Amino acid sequence: MLLPDYKKAKEQLSGERKIIRYNESLSTVGLGKKYFVKTYGCQMNEHDTENIEALLEALAFSPAKNYEEADLVILNTCSIRENAHNKAFGMIGRLKHLKSKKDLLIGIGGCMPQEEAVAKSLLAKKEIDFVFGTHNIYQLPEIIDRVLKGEKVFEVYSKAGEVIEDIPLKRASNIKAYINIIYGCDKFCTYCIVPFTRGRERSRAKEDILAEVSLLKASGYKEITLLGQNVNAYGKDLKDNYFLSNLLEDIAKMGIERIRFMTSHPWDFTDELIEVIAKYDNIAPAIHLPLQSASDRILKLMGRRYTSSDYETLVAKLRKKVKNLSLSTDIIVAFPGETEEDFQMTLDLCKKLEYDNAFSFIYSARENTAAAKLKEQIDLDVAKKRLARLNEVLNSSFLKRNEALVGKVLPVLIEEESSKKGYYLGYSDNSRLVNVKTTKDNIGKIIPVEITAAKTWSLDGKALK
Ligand code: 5AD
Ligand code: SF4
Repeated sequence: MLLPDYKKAKEQLSGERKIIRYNESLSTVGLGKKYFVKTYGCQMNEHDTENIEALLEALAFSPAKNYEEADLVILNTCSIRENAHNKAFGMIGRLKHLKSKKDLLIGIGGCMPQEEAVAKSLLAKKEIDFVFGTHNIYQLPEIIDRVLKGEKVFEVYSKAGEVIEDIPLKRASNIKAYINIIYGCDKFCTYCIVPFTRGRERSRAKEDILAEVSLLKASGYKEITLLGQNVNAYGKDLKDNYFLSNLLEDIAKMGIERIRFMTSHPWDFTDELIEVIAKYDNIAPAIHLPLQSASDRILKLMGRRYTSSDYETLVAKLRKKVKNLSLSTDIIVAFPGETEEDFQMTLDLCKKLEYDNAFSFIYSARENTAAAKLKEQIDLDVAKKRLARLNEVLNSSFLKRNEALVGKVLPVLIEEESSKKGYYLGYSDNSRLVNVKTTKDNIGKIIPVEITAAKTWSLDGKALK
């Protein structure tokens, strides 16, 4: 049994990067049994679920339509904020109830088991059959084998220096795909649990990434998203002078139709990277650039390594070089010690920068992070009021930016039928959800769409093809 250990996890800062190649399992222990995986949190978790599902199917489990009809349910959990925990614990309660009525195996994976205190509480729950961490996904076949023999299994590594290649993958879409390029994060922003749950920054070898892109292109994929908690740190640990700008350029030259990457940290955003984004039409002009706060005092307390003026300079550079740039961000309100004045600075900068999209959050204290130890935690009522004021500013800028697109023609990748008859949903290169009047045969294609109406979070349009 392996429990997570924060001290060990942090000591791994200089840990050696090791590549492990997954060997396929030949067991069929899942034959006749159905699985259901519920995913919480970010794209990284969604992508991990694609591995989890493929591993289960390699064991001959078949997919269930819902958790009620499954013999095995896995929750792929998230720790980023307290409410993500609450959702997963709520679901564990429902599964416990279901287990009292039928045979059911319950497994918990993802970020929550990587937290020491949470791991202990999961271990204490009798209804849970197995727990695995973010570094242990590739061990699922062995874990499930042991569980089916009656063992309660708990495998959560704290070590985080590994890159596991060749784990089977069951992609959720045949149109667009995620590709991990870097795992973990070394930034240790003071509010953030990710460096503890996902370990140290470790980049995949460029050969492995390029081979994956090439396979996706040959299989007809139209869009790929390069994923990392901090994508623009890509390559810094490889010491072969090959960074995100080089990787993006090599991928763009391969001719895949649309390339995205996320999430960027303003700290590692180089001029070379901006040049490459500007140069290639198949790199989407959409940058997610978390600001978090515009108060330099708060940014310092957050350990973000930039000032609001550094951020503004970077945005100005991006806007100057990248045509039709769409800029999105993450903002945290009510970080410990945030005064009305600090918050006003964030409001003012958001007004000024006119984001195309944004995610706004109330600060949530996370176990063991530096910010959780700060004294001046902000009252929840104050935080809620600030969030509402921020959202008002953000929403009005989304609408304004969307209205400016009416009458323009955007390339939209059509993905699926909409609930409205005769309409299909897709995303434009600048990351707008567009409700398009078109026909079914355009699913899976990037087509020109004339924008006819704007809402706060979506556009309407008609296909020109
Ligand atoms: N509380 C609130 N928001 C957080 N985020 C990360 N950690 C916390 C926290 N403790 C937000 C940041 C990050 C996004 C993914 O989640 O804005 O960019
Ligand atoms: Fe968390 Fe900061 Fe790393 Fe983003 S850059 S994952 S906010 S520690």
